[in-house]
Amino acid sequence: MSGYAPGSGGSGGNAVVDLRSDTVTKPTPAMREAIACAQVGDDVFGDDPTVNALQERVAALLGKEAALFMSSGTQSNLCGLLAHCGRGDEYIVGQLAHTYRYEGGGGAVLGSIQPQPLPNQPDGTIRLEDIAAAIKPDDPHFARSRLLALENTWSGNVLPASYTTAACELAHSRGLFTHLDGARLFNAAVASGRTVAELARHFDSVSICFSKGLGAPIGSMLVGSRELIRRAHRVRKMVGGGLRQVGLLAAAADHALSHHVERLADDHALARRLAEGLAALPGVTVTPPQTNIVFVQVSDDRGPALLEHLKSRGVLATGMIGLRFVTHLDVDAAGIDHAIAAAADFFKS
Ligand SMILES: Cc1ncc(COP(=O)(O)O)c(C=O)c1O
Repeated sequence: MSGYAPGSGGSGGNAVVDLRSDTVTKPTPAMREAIACAQVGDDVFGDDPTVNALQERVAALLGKEAALFMSSGTQSNLCGLLAHCGRGDEYIVGQLAHTYRYEGGGGAVLGSIQPQPLPNQPDGTIRLEDIAAAIKPDDPHFARSRLLALENTWSGNVLPASYTTAACELAHSRGLFTHLDGARLFNAAVASGRTVAELARHFDSVSICFSKGLGAPIGSMLVGSRELIRRAHRVRKMVGGGLRQVGLLAAAADHALSHHVERLADDHALARRLAEGLAALPGVTVTPPQTNIVFVQVSDDRGPALLEHLKSRGVLATGMIGLRFVTHLDVDAAGIDHAIAAAADFFKS
């Protein structure tokens, strides 16, 4: 694999333009410094001052009562599901949602919670009519409809605020709780010009990730009412998520919140730059990105061959027929231009 000479951006010093995901970032020197200097204690005893401060900071930021540090987004969503729903309950979720599709069916496996998946529209919404029709009557034949779970951003799309408000109002009016998988909620906030508190407002619980666009190595957080977080705390312990001197990770997340939020706009600009460059190539159709994820269709089933060619030129992406490129803290404009040039060469050959 021949790489490229990296520009001044990024912290990895890596000659590969890795656009597989925004989870591939490495901690910056300043973040490593914050980790090294963190005050720590045993968080299972509630003694870690850095994690306690971060939980308070994030709860306030999202306008909720309480927050709980989690090892991963999957753990955070799982603890949210199990805190809202009991055995025999049901949650309504998009059939392409991460929570339903890519988290090992944890709600069903560990909580005996039945998912009711519904079609996601191309913008990530679930039609309100579909939600209303899927809510089961209180009848012994049915699982108890208990929760509506949405995702924002969804495949890089920002859900319209009017939609999330209406969906949550519908769910609440029928006695359901609402959970938001906000793994990339800060991308949604920066792209829409709204605060994360506004985007979180109608949800009873929200999961956010520090280890995606925010650039921390590990960590997520579940946010909600004090009572919900108390229940989630018990579930986190059950799934082995009680960590000890986790302030080391909380320090990285805290640093990310202070230094890596506004700069998400740079990732979004790089995604647009990549989208425009690729869209100019023959046989390539690009969905204009709203945030940091670019979806590309390549005609004549040439997607896998393009991926292989890009890899040989030091550019990594994912997909098969449709390809996915994700921008993040460790790519810069030179890397994006290298990716566009490498793709252009493929179509010349
Ligand atoms: C939308 C969404 N939710 C949840 C997760 C799960 O996060 P983790 O990989 O930290 O478990 C991901 C991971 O990429 C994601 O994209």
